[in-house]
This record gives sequence, structure tokens and C-alpha cells, in this order.
Amino acid sequence: MNIQIDVNRIVRELETLAGFSSTPAPAVTRVVFSEEDIRARAWFYQRCVEAGLQMREDAVGNTFARWVGSDTDSPAVGTGSHIDAIPNAGRYDGTVGVLGGLEAIRALQRIGYQPKRSIELLLFTAEEPTRFGIGCLGSRLLSGTLAPKATVAWKDADGRSLDQVRLAAGFSGDLAAVKLPQGYYSAFVELHIEQGPLLEQRGVDLGVVTAIAAPASFRIDIYGQGGHAGAVLMTDRHDAFLASAEIALALEAAARCTGAVDSVATTGVCQIFPSAINSIPSQVHMEADIRDIDESRRDKMIAALNDACERVANGRQVRVTVETINRDAPCASAPAVSEALERACQKHSFTFDRMVSRAYHDSLFMSRISPTAMLFIPCRDGVSHRPDEYASPEAIGRGALVLAETLRELSA
Ligand code: GLV
Ligand code: MN
Ligand code: MN
Repeated sequence: MNIQIDVNRIVRELETLAGFSSTPAPAVTRVVFSEEDIRARAWFYQRCVEAGLQMREDAVGNTFARWVGSDTDSPAVGTGSHIDAIPNAGRYDGTVGVLGGLEAIRALQRIGYQPKRSIELLLFTAEEPTRFGIGCLGSRLLSGTLAPKATVAWKDADGRSLDQVRLAAGFSGDLAAVKLPQGYYSAFVELHIEQGPLLEQRGVDLGVVTAIAAPASFRIDIYGQGGHAGAVLMTDRHDAFLASAEIALALEAAARCTGAVDSVATTGVCQIFPSAINSIPSQVHMEADIRDIDESRRDKMIAALNDACERVANGRQVRVTVETINRDAPCASAPAVSEALERACQKHSFTFDRMVSRAYHDSLFMSRISPTAMLFIPCRDGVSHRPDEYASPEAIGRGALVLAETLRELSA
């Protein structure tokens, strides 16, 4: 039977979800375990219950909504994404994969389809690094990529630990129990907005992701010498901010000179202490994000960052420390899953391109425990992580339809 996606319903649900925000519309800000996140989760939970799904939440708040299949001995097929949103974000990043996944399940239910393998919709906790500085918290724990003991020292900006905030949000229990065994899913597939301009520029309906770039991120602390902005002569200064600027520029140069478009490096955090106009910066905290689809090329940029830190520390007589937050390998999509996506595109006469994802996603970590692939839909001007992020109802409808078709094939 033909699957019919109720795209108006997804659009309405995206709008409702966007209302759970700590910043006024059109901006969406939903930090993990904030009041807005907790209310959004409760709302989503009810939508899943209405769809007759069997619910489970783990100790870190990953939420599993299972449509139980006739063969409960075989591994399930997984789909899903995240609903947390970085400060001043839009309404489509992650949410399209969660609500599109829910609608894909409801659409299959409407045609009377009975899955053999269970289909499980996941809401991953904290794909965004906003609160604890590391992205994909939920999927890292699910895949065993992050050891629970590594989280013990973490503190958010208010000095609260992960245990404190997850308990306050109602998620208790042993973090070690979050890990899923290899083979828990026979396949995992994530629907997401592209977050780049290529599909729109090429006029292509959908993107089938072949690989996800390797992300790495670092905390860099620079300890110089403060002093009076008028009284200390230029020759006597050890300005921590100028040292940080030199390091950031060296990192930019390292990314620009690899010769590959897939090499990117960003210094997205730079906090100056004491941050007073008439005071020489004595300390700077920076955070840098370095990515490439090619791991060895990515690692060369990391080496260039370390070299720059050493050179600048010596040259300016400041102390520089570098701490690795994460340094992950890239992943390749599983042909069995990406080919199912391609067959579904062909069945509905949608054009598609094979493409890499330079953004990371929970799928990067799900691929460590399950055959995984992703489906991208275009977003306007490639804009994401901004309030004006937009994906058209037509694009969302195509994505949800191909996802539903793929879930039908993989669960049969
Ligand atoms: C995910 O949000 C990323 O930064 O790639
Ligand atoms: Mn994001
Ligand atoms: Mn996302």
C-alpha cells in the first residue's frame, strides 16, 4: 500500500516543539535538562504514547519509543535524532528526525503495516555540546564510546554536575547501564536537515550520507600577565588575548592550507579575563573545533594547533595548556542501509545525491554498534544553528516518506 505522510501534522508538531524555548521566537534555545527541554520531552513522550509505542528512558534520558514487531527475538530497526537546540538556534535541527521518525511510524500504522522487526524511535540526549562542552552525550554513552566515569568531573556553567542535572530532570540509575550491546539494532537510520547548501544549489531532493567527518575539539587556556592598559609598555607585555589571537589564526591557516574543502577549523569560544577595557588580558579560555572527513588530515591540523601553542607560548612568554575534549574517528555508512534509502528514493522518483556530512550527528556513534546511514533534506540557503533555519514542508514530507519506506523495508 502507498504510504501517506501527514506533513501538515509534522509542521504543526515542529511549531509546538519550537515553543519550548528559553528565547523568543523565531529563535529556539533548548539546553539539555533545562525546564524547556523537560517540558518538550514530556510533550514528545505523550505523542509517542498516543501512537501506541512502548516507552523506555535510560539513565541519561535517551528515550526509546518502540513499535513492537511480530519477531521480538530479532534486533530492532532504529531511527531518531535529538531535540536539544543550541542557544539562538532554529526549529529543524534534530527535531525533523525525531518528529519525522514519529510520523513515519504513524504513516506505516495507518496503512495497516505490521513490522516483523520492532521499529524503535530514539530521542538522544544532548547531541549539542552546549551544557557540558561535548556533543552526542547520549549516543556516546549508548555506543560505549564514552566511559561513564569520564563524566564525573564535568560541571556546567553553574557548577552543576551531570548527575545533579539528570537526577533533577528525573533520570536516575547507573550510567553504565546506558550502553547497548553490539547488534542491538539490525540497522539505524537518521533523518536530518543538511545544514549546508549543496542539495538546494543542485536542485536535488534528498541526500544519502556516505560518511560523517571526524570531529575533534579542544580547550585551550592561556595564562599571561595582566596590568594597567596605560602604564605597562608594549615591550613588557604578556597579553593572553594576543597570544590566543595568534593561535586562532595559526589554526585557520592550518585548515586553509590542506588543499581539501573538507578541512575545517573553528575557534568558537574565546573568553578574556578580566575583560576590562583598561586592563591587559591576563587569561584567555578558548575552545577550538577541528574536523575533516580524512582522519590523518584532521590529525595534521591538530598537530599544527599544538605546534602553534608551543611557539606562541615561547614567543610571548605565556603559559598555554591544551586539553582534548573529544577526538573521534569518522564513520562510513553501511551499504545495506544507504542502499535501502536509495531504493526508497527511486521508488518515489525523488532525485538524490550521495554526500558526506561535515556536521556530526548521533549516527556517528550509532555506527559503532549498528549498520547506520543518514538521509538529508535540503534547508534554505544551507542555514542552520540560526533562528532563520528553514526546511520546506515539501522537503520534510519527502524525507519522512523515504524514511518510512526504508523502515518498512528494513523491518520486514
Ligand atoms: C552538530 O551540531 C555539529 O556541530 O556538527
Ligand atoms: Mn546542531
Ligand atoms: Mn543536529
